[in-house]
Amino acid sequence: AIDINKLRDLTGVITIDPGYKNSGSCTSEITFLDGEEGILRYRGYSIEDLAEKASFLEVSYLLIFGELPTAAQLEDFENNIRKHSLVNEEMKNIIDGFPKTAHPMGVLSALTSALTAFNPKAVNVDNEKEMYEAICKTMAKFLVIATWTYRKSMGYPLNYYDNTKGYVESFMQLMFKLPTGPYAANPVIVNALDKLFILHADHEQNCSTSTVRMVGSSHAGLFASVSAGVSALWGPLHGGANQAVLEMLEEINKDGGDTDKFLAKAKDKNDPFRLMGFGHRVYKNFDPRAKIIKKAATEVLETLGVEDPILDIARKLEKAALEDEYFKSRNLYPNVDFYSGIIYRALGIPTDMFTVMFAIGRLPGWIAQWKEMRENKEPIGRPRQIYTGHPLREFKSNK
Ligand code: ACO
Repeated sequence: AIDINKLRDLTGVITIDPGYKNSGSCTSEITFLDGEEGILRYRGYSIEDLAEKASFLEVSYLLIFGELPTAAQLEDFENNIRKHSLVNEEMKNIIDGFPKTAHPMGVLSALTSALTAFNPKAVNVDNEKEMYEAICKTMAKFLVIATWTYRKSMGYPLNYYDNTKGYVESFMQLMFKLPTGPYAANPVIVNALDKLFILHADHEQNCSTSTVRMVGSSHAGLFASVSAGVSALWGPLHGGANQAVLEMLEEINKDGGDTDKFLAKAKDKNDPFRLMGFGHRVYKNFDPRAKIIKKAATEVLETLGVEDPILDIARKLEKAALEDEYFKSRNLYPNVDFYSGIIYRALGIPTDMFTVMFAIGRLPGWIAQWKEMRENKEPIGRPRQIYTGHPLREFKSNK
């Protein structure tokens, strides 16, 4: 592996690369991405294999610790997450302070940051046991508060993690269990969600992950770094695109389903409208996750017996865009967000929770990247600039 600290000696010249289109910020052993070929692998395993054969917690363990867990390791991981799943009751006062209409991503970012108030001790990253506990704590509490943002927006009482259930099943219970009566999650839904979380779990140095690494590089704690990642993910050019896709498809549907009209808008350089869910900074080919999700969306809708005109519009739009010279010449293909919203919608998850779903899936990736950054003893992230402002000016008040 390259010693990142040694690279510092070679950086005498400042390069300008807005958006870091060609700048590597680190070396990493976590995720391999080939945008030209449309390949995605976590720790050397293909995304197709993992989505088909592994569970979300297994993949989380793989990303964070580098190898697939044994049965005993997985059980211990799951049990430790359960152990940490209680969230301080005072956190509820913080939630109560938000208006019901607050966007769940804003609430999630604030609550994640607020967890530092109840877990103030800085984790010694050189201590394996402390790191393990901090990781399990984050996996547990983040899931609980993520669902609380939904319960709050609905005005429902808050639920607790079910220690007899798996991670994804418990998520369903946290979200949807009513105060009275038992709750059994539909296995088709649990399976689809497991897959969706796996597909979102890591994607090398994307905007939110780079943010987590950058914030963590100042030795800010895991909760503070993850909270910053949530804010970065929220934007419509990143994770917020899944909400924007569904809103766009709904708008097309309401407008009579004329996909050509919206395609023309997306191509019009005087119109700020972009085809949401299309294009990617790195993929210049099919996003391999989009292929898996498209198939899963069809399966989920069929199994649940849901007929959704939005799926037909999405298919029509995708086909038209893929045949269009504008999209072809710019290598614009559907990305992970194009079909995920259709599944979430079929599962009864409201649109403004879509990006929270993405955040739950991305959490193990953020943790793995934060851990790797600290273990590699990376220097504080501090880009340079080329100053283009005024030269020295004499102070004369404008008052
Ligand atoms: N619709 C219409 N035109 C597009 C789109 C789109 N969705 N995406 C890119 N283009 C065009 C641009 O206008 C530009 O055209 P030009 O060369 O004529 O100026 C060209 O394609 C290149 O686009 P850039 O914006 O330079 O590409 P960049 O790598 O900076 O942006 C991004 C990538 C942000 C994903 C962009 O494709 C986009 O805005 N897509 C829609 C939002 C979206 O789906 N985001 C989710 C990304 S995946 C994720 O975060 C999980």
